[in-house]
Amino acid sequence: MTTPTKIIFDTDPGIDDAMALLFIQASPAIDLLAVTTVFGNADIDTTTRNALYLKDRFGLTAPVYKGTDKPLTRPRNPSPTFVHGENGLGDVELTGLVAAEPEAKPAYQAIIDLARANPGEVTLVAVGPLTNLALALQADPEVATLLKAVVIMGGAFAVAGKPGNVTPVAEANIWNDPEAADLVFTAPWFVTAVSLDVTTQVVMSPAYMEELEATAGPAGAFLNAISKPYARFYGGRDGIVGCCVHDAAAVAFVIDPSLFDVRRGSIRVVTNGIALGQTCQMVEGELFGPSAWDGQPVQAITVGVKAEGLLRLYRETMRA
Ligand code: BDR
Ligand code: CA
Repeated sequence: MTTPTKIIFDTDPGIDDAMALLFIQASPAIDLLAVTTVFGNADIDTTTRNALYLKDRFGLTAPVYKGTDKPLTRPRNPSPTFVHGENGLGDVELTGLVAAEPEAKPAYQAIIDLARANPGEVTLVAVGPLTNLALALQADPEVATLLKAVVIMGGAFAVAGKPGNVTPVAEANIWNDPEAADLVFTAPWFVTAVSLDVTTQVVMSPAYMEELEATAGPAGAFLNAISKPYARFYGGRDGIVGCCVHDAAAVAFVIDPSLFDVRRGSIRVVTNGIALGQTCQMVEGELFGPSAWDGQPVQAITVGVKAEGLLRLYRETMRA
């Protein structure tokens, strides 16, 4: 068996974040070094409480570090309670909740320290606003050269799927901190954006969730419970029957990148105006006049996904 990939999971739990975290926990292909939290689907106290709850209830051993409560330069957007509920986990009762504290170190410092302690070995998987990553870059720019890779769930590139989910052109994680996202895409590490283009093509149906409940033990039952309000949101708005697999798709990319087609090119984020939060890639090899994409690092976006294969990987990992 190949050595598990060391990851830091930066997250704003969040219903689909919980789906991703329990997938990580179940996967023998991943060695989870730390969970770092960020505002996004709820305020920072709620997302951190949820990460600690998931750790306690499902026996995660990785430490939880609390991240930032606001974007780099702008006020925080209101929490999307209409998607993730008041408690961030679909307002499902958090059975057995006990008070727990995160580690003392802030999330951005934990990212720096883990990268320095494991040079070239750690993949940073970020599935919320990218503010902790930007803070790590600002505090210690060398961190960009110390990670193995960065995989994010975020962005929408209008190549497939949906072009945006909070505005016609912007995806939520990027829109929640566009300045941080632009810093992350233009830093000299290798970023792959698992974007709405593919995540809206992978849907867990109610029948799929029932099967998960029947085959994946207490985690499966919990995931089925929290998926119901999430599915109601998608059904009411987009006519999708089930839950889009956003954050777990980024984890699937780490486990089996062959499930995805990617396209390379430098990426910039719109940081003002009506297209705030839009992500735009200059495809590698295409020629234009001088532009803000010139001289920026080549990153990757996902433009295709084997949806059935991804759903199978998730189901079989959770069952095991
Ligand atoms: C992303 O935004 C958040 O609401 C989800 O958890 C996911 O990370 C989807 O746009
Ligand atoms: Ca998320």
